[in-house]
Amino acid sequence: MSHHLTWYGHSCFLIETGGKRILVDPFLDDSPTAPIKAKDAAADYILVTHGHFDHISDVAKISARTRAVCVSNFEICTWLGKQGVKHCEPMNTGGEIALPFGKVKSTIAFHSSTLPDGTPAGNPGGFLLSLDGARIYIAGDTALFSDMKLYAANLDVAILPIGNRFTMGPEDAIEALKLLRPKQAIPCHYNTWPPIEQDATAWAAEVRKLGNMEPVIFAPGERKQLL
Ligand code: NI
Ligand code: MN
Repeated sequence: MSHHLTWYGHSCFLIETGGKRILVDPFLDDSPTAPIKAKDAAADYILVTHGHFDHISDVAKISARTRAVCVSNFEICTWLGKQGVKHCEPMNTGGEIALPFGKVKSTIAFHSSTLPDGTPAGNPGGFLLSLDGARIYIAGDTALFSDMKLYAANLDVAILPIGNRFTMGPEDAIEALKLLRPKQAIPCHYNTWPPIEQDATAWAAEVRKLGNMEPVIFAPGERKQLL
């Protein structure tokens, strides 16, 4: 089974697997680096890691047009329902659900989470995806934490923030990779605005020093086959 990934800037990715399109943390209309607008986004499922605007601001409008099913924690799904989202799969930290494209596990993230209107959004999180032939860890917005090693088993791809200031930075992301040991490492949550500017090429060189691990750097809008 082939898996394709497209980066739409910041933390927004499109994963294509088994004929399903999984959009992660859509932030398109107000993102300075997004190559598409929300009206152009395709999705069968939308995964939302936490309630901050730079992860959720386009979810309701994309779901309304595409009828994509939204996967997030209970609090965020409840809030999305009030925004008109018809189909949600609510879950919470540590839980795993089976969907037509594979399993989705809700993972820990050390961050904060409030929705754009101030509503508490429960705990922030990440996702561990068990697809047909690929395990992908999406860390979400988080600090480095040692329990990341619990997500390392048979891990193919790790998507980690490197922007610093609001999440872990490049050096802590390297420490995270020592715990996760994925085959491929993908950075996100950087270069969207000046406070989170980072040199992804320099980071990629540090990833290569870890051995048996390939950094995969995307330009916004770029689509690549994984693994
Ligand atoms: Ni955040
Ligand atoms: Mn963020």
